[in-house]
Amino acid sequence: MSNLSEAELIHKFKGISFTSRSSPELLNSLDAFDAREDDVLLVSYPKSGTHWLAGVITKLYNTPVTLTTPIELGDMSKLEELNQLSSKRIIPTHLDYNMLPQHFKNKKCKMIYISRNPKDTAVSMYHYYRENPNLPTVDTWTAFLDLFLKGDVVCGSWFDHFLSWEEHKNDKNILFLFYEDMKKNLPKIVKEISIFLGISISDEDIQDICKKSSFSEMKKDTEKENSDPSHTICALTSNRKLIFRKGTVGDWKNHFTPKQNLQFDEVFSEKMKLSKMAKQLTYEF
Ligand code: A3P
Repeated sequence: MSNLSEAELIHKFKGISFTSRSSPELLNSLDAFDAREDDVLLVSYPKSGTHWLAGVITKLYNTPVTLTTPIELGDMSKLEELNQLSSKRIIPTHLDYNMLPQHFKNKKCKMIYISRNPKDTAVSMYHYYRENPNLPTVDTWTAFLDLFLKGDVVCGSWFDHFLSWEEHKNDKNILFLFYEDMKKNLPKIVKEISIFLGISISDEDIQDICKKSSFSEMKKDTEKENSDPSHTICALTSNRKLIFRKGTVGDWKNHFTPKQNLQFDEVFSEKMKLSKMAKQLTYEF
């Protein structure tokens, strides 16, 4: 909930809404960003489990790594700030594939894309809008769902984001993950990530990482922290405590009316009709 007007909080760049924390100058100059071959990108539409995945990935390395703020967050000083880091960079982003700086693509940097049932993503984002002072005020769930389905929310349409990345589903340098699979069998996914990143890890370490990355542990850690507002891995967050809400699969059932569910399914079927990856989503019709 914010006291600022929508125009003060949000601006559009190439038709997609960004918060004022992503400056237009930075967005305009992203292609000048110099990627390094060993950069790892952590890609998501907001509220898909980005922090969870980041928690897992940073625990996998036994050499120094820096989890940076999202590439699209900040002003022109951002590029220099990232340039100055000497350790390996794990860089989060909510950008869709078309807006991703070209150098990451040319250098075939490893990228991990996490997605989540869009109904749960919408519910998570609704609560986030209500709590987050960087986002415009939404009055009701119904009003928010309408905006979500139209793609008139920060980071644009969930459907377009997913489809832009799906076009690259056969690229060897991109690993696609689902939030629901992490919920179902985290050790399996941690193993998959470690193989993708070329990190050898024991089963015991995997168990330890899973324990430390559980919802309750991560929430507890955040509550202990004096959160540093300048360090966030979501371009919309200034307070990490807002991230750990419920951490469940299927919370949408507590929010959607049958009519809203039908409306969502219609949009989903239409937008995703050519998508193969959408069939892998845990999505109940
Ligand atoms: P909910 O709002 O449904 O609880 P992001 O990090 O991309 O912003 O995603 C936030 C969502 O991931 C929130 O969903 C949050 O609770 C959930 N989440 C964060 N850490 C988690 C964990 N360790 N296990 C399960 N879900 C987690």
